[in-house]
Amino acid sequence: MRSKLVVGNWKMNGNLASNQTLLKSLIPLLASVTHARCAVCVPYPYLAQTEQILRGQGVSWGAQDVCEYEHGAFTGGVSAGMVADFGCRFVIVGHSERRALFGDTDAVVAKKFAAVLKAGLTPILCVGETLAERESGVMEQVIARQMDAVIALSGVAGLGQTVMAYEPVWAIGTGKTATPDEAQAVHAFIRERVAELDVRAGDGLPILYGGSVKASNAAQLFAMADIDGGLIGGAALVAEEFAAICKAA
Ligand code: 13P
Repeated sequence: MRSKLVVGNWKMNGNLASNQTLLKSLIPLLASVTHARCAVCVPYPYLAQTEQILRGQGVSWGAQDVCEYEHGAFTGGVSAGMVADFGCRFVIVGHSERRALFGDTDAVVAKKFAAVLKAGLTPILCVGETLAERESGVMEQVIARQMDAVIALSGVAGLGQTVMAYEPVWAIGTGKTATPDEAQAVHAFIRERVAELDVRAGDGLPILYGGSVKASNAAQLFAMADIDGGLIGGAALVAEEFAAICKAA
């Protein structure tokens, strides 16, 4: 039985003062959530602050991206080892905003995934199609291609120890959520693709749904057989809303 996981992706939001308020509000709100794991992925400069506030409080934290390289002359890069120094448990890789706005290709995402694993952290691999890809009937090909790049580099057996997130690009920050049935169909496809190569990895793989998840729609999504929790953007910036989503899990 896979346990539920809810991860907040703060994206490029927050500052020292607002983070402090948000994190300190979350701790008591999440104290009663014992049946699901909760985490927040924050901007790099706030990892130290997040570690300081959350350590020992039962809520994990992580980063939103890493450089694919370990160290060296990569100005502006932040390695997986560096974020590990701040107690991170998770690192998001392959978010559609990184793919679309920062040029992360499937090959780069695969290298980042491998770098996160090598640093002993858990990658959260995001996949998902655009509206045009869905409407033109290539959704499954796109998701398979995104997955296969990672499987080719890191193998399939380890995938069951990591986390995947299905985030349809058209549902991110748009208020337009995939219906539970639409999301379930893609989650089942993802799990099946892994299970075809390794049954145990497929069964064990937590697959989160992301894209306009709110307290009001979380329970229906999380009730689906292959939806193991959520990756939450905007709603993760409001303590009560994020806590309500965690409770729905
Ligand atoms: P929203 O919840 O704001 O749609 O963002 C989803 C997301 O991109 C999480 O990674």
